[in-house]
This record gives sequence, C-alpha cells and structure tokens, in this order.
Amino acid sequence: MFLVTGATGGIGRRVVRLLRQREQSVRAFVRLTSRYSELEHRGAEIFIGDLHSKQDIQKACQGVQYIISTHGSGSDALSIDYRANIELIDQAKANGVQHFVFISVLGADRGYEDAPVFKAKRAVERYLQASGLNYTILRPAGLASNLLPLAERFRETGLYLLIGDRKNRTSILSTDDLAKIVVDSVTLEGAHNQTLSVGGPEILSRADIPRIFARIFNKEPVIINPPLLFIDGLRGALGLFNPQAQTSLGTYRTLLANEFFCTKEEIAKLEAIFNFQLETLENFLRRYLAV
Ligand SMILES: NC(=O)c1ccc[n+]([C@@H]2O[C@H](COP(=O)([O-])OP(=O)(O)OC[C@H]3O[C@@H](n4cnc5c(N)ncnc54)[C@H](OP(=O)(O)O)[C@@H]3O)[C@@H](O)[C@H]2O)c1
Repeated sequence: MFLVTGATGGIGRRVVRLLRQREQSVRAFVRLTSRYSELEHRGAEIFIGDLHSKQDIQKACQGVQYIISTHGSGSDALSIDYRANIELIDQAKANGVQHFVFISVLGADRGYEDAPVFKAKRAVERYLQASGLNYTILRPAGLASNLLPLAERFRETGLYLLIGDRKNRTSILSTDDLAKIVVDSVTLEGAHNQTLSVGGPEILSRADIPRIFARIFNKEPVIINPPLLFIDGLRGALGLFNPQAQTSLGTYRTLLANEFFCTKEEIAKLEAIFNFQLETLENFLRRYLAV
C-alpha cells in the first residue's frame, strides 16, 4: 500500500493516477474540502484528514509500505512543510516503511534565509537522510502544470505578467514526467538514497515562456514586466496588517529573484536513471491545451 499526501495537488493527483494505472493499492490523504472524487473513481482508498493533526498522520500511516510526500503548504511552512513531514518520517520508521519519497524544491540547499518553505524542505531533507529509511529526495524546478492557467489567460487576452528579471533561467518540468520519476523512484535502484535535482530538458529564460505561448496560440504577447520592487512594496504594505502573509511572500520573492535550472549533467543523470526522455514545456502545453 502506498500513502500519498497532497493527493489532490498538481503532483499528487498524477502520482495517484499512475499508481492506479499500474494497479498498485493507494491511500490518498485528502482534506474533506478537497476535490477527491476522481481519485476515488480510480480506486484509491480515500483517507480524510488534515496534516496539521499528528493523530491523522499516525492513522494514515498504518499498514503502508511506501510513503510519497507531495503536499505543499501555501503559507504554513512550519506546520505543513516541516512538522507534517517530520511526523510522516517518524511514522514511516515506526511502521517499517520500505521507501519514502519526498518532494523538496530546487535550491533547498542554497540557504535562502527569507524563504520559509525552502528552509523547511532543507530541514526535512536532512532529517530523512539521517533517518535510516530508504529514501529518494526529488528537488524539482517549476512545474509546467502551474503555467496552464496563465496560458489560458494568455489565449484570451494576450497578456503575460513577468515580475522581475526576464533573463533569469529556469528548467520548467513536465508535471507528468515528475509523477513518473516519483513512482519509479521506489523501484529503481539508481534512485535509492539519492537526492536529485529534477528539471525539464531545456534551460529557458523567463522571457521564453511568453514566446512559447505566442507560438502555441499564434498571438503577439503583451508582456507586463514590473520590477521586483513591486513585490517588496506589496510585502511592506501587507506586513502592516498581516505579518504571516508578509513572511510567506518571502518564498515567492525568492522564487522570482533567483534562477532555478538544472545543469545538462543533472538532466543527463536523470534520463540515465529513469530511462526516458524528458518532455519539453512546449510539448506539455500543447498536449493539455490541445493546440
Ligand atoms: N509547484 C511548483 O512549481 C513546485 C516546484 C518545486 C517544488 N514543489 C513542491 O512540490 C510539492 C507539490 O506541489 P504542487 O504544486 O503539486 O502542490 P499543490 O498543487 O499546491 O497541492 C498541495 C497539496 O497539499 C495539500 N494540503 C495542503 N495543506 C494540507 C493540509 N493541511 N492537510 C492535508 N493536505 C494539505 C493540498 O490539499 P487541498 O486540495 O485540500 O488544498 C494539495 O493536495 C510541494 O511540496 C511543493 O513545495 C512545487
């Protein structure tokens, strides 16, 4: 039995689908308020709980052989990105789990002080590496599925909002490829006890994204390009009445202010371990947008 947390998220949903296609038994950890009927129809066992609750995590881990942690927090890095994963790792040990896959983030090891999610991911990575469990830690760059709503907006308006430096590089990754990598990590020896950077096959500049949209929809992009100071101003104003939102914007700012790409060597290593060719961003978008 696989336990998948974040089972209704961009990565988790695809992981559950793939496991069910391979006829594996899956327990999907979901919140009551989530949209989980698709997972149920695919034959996943639905576990309703909240990752804020230790008791829910303990119950969900009973009788599982594999744990795949794909959940994300939005704004509560301490409770969800950090504590919930520490509890999952402790429970994995207590239940004799055979393999633990953790979704971290590219750059988790760069010591970004202002980014609570990155700090939580790094602390969890360290805890898992020292746990004695079999593990795979995956550090993805940006996910292609996040761009689908932006592409839909572009299709209608031609507008693209690009905050900060257009030249910053990124290795946006097919979310379907990531799901395959997650699932195969459990069985492929080459992925065992590894911490891997995961990105798409191309190093893109952020300005390449509206160019790809333009090609797909045959439409000239109108790029709105405020400087990073825009986010700093927003943070300053938010901090006056919502300090927690101000803190979580630190992670967002870190994502905008830095480069997140994989080297050619890292991509070659991935393709060698997992034995398939990674999909380009344009291909991913064309498949989903049917153009
Ligand atoms: N998106 C990216 O570009 C990117 C890049 C690198 C790394 N990552 C990492 O990859 C992971 C997955 O990202 P994603 O984009 O697939 O995430 P996502 O679509 O935002 O999904 C987050 C998932 O976590 C669940 N969740 C949040 N709080 C919860 C709680 N208290 N109890 C139970 N479930 C809870 C959500 O459930 P609901 O449906 O109930 O909200 C949802 O299923 C995250 O750890 C993220 O940090 C993402």
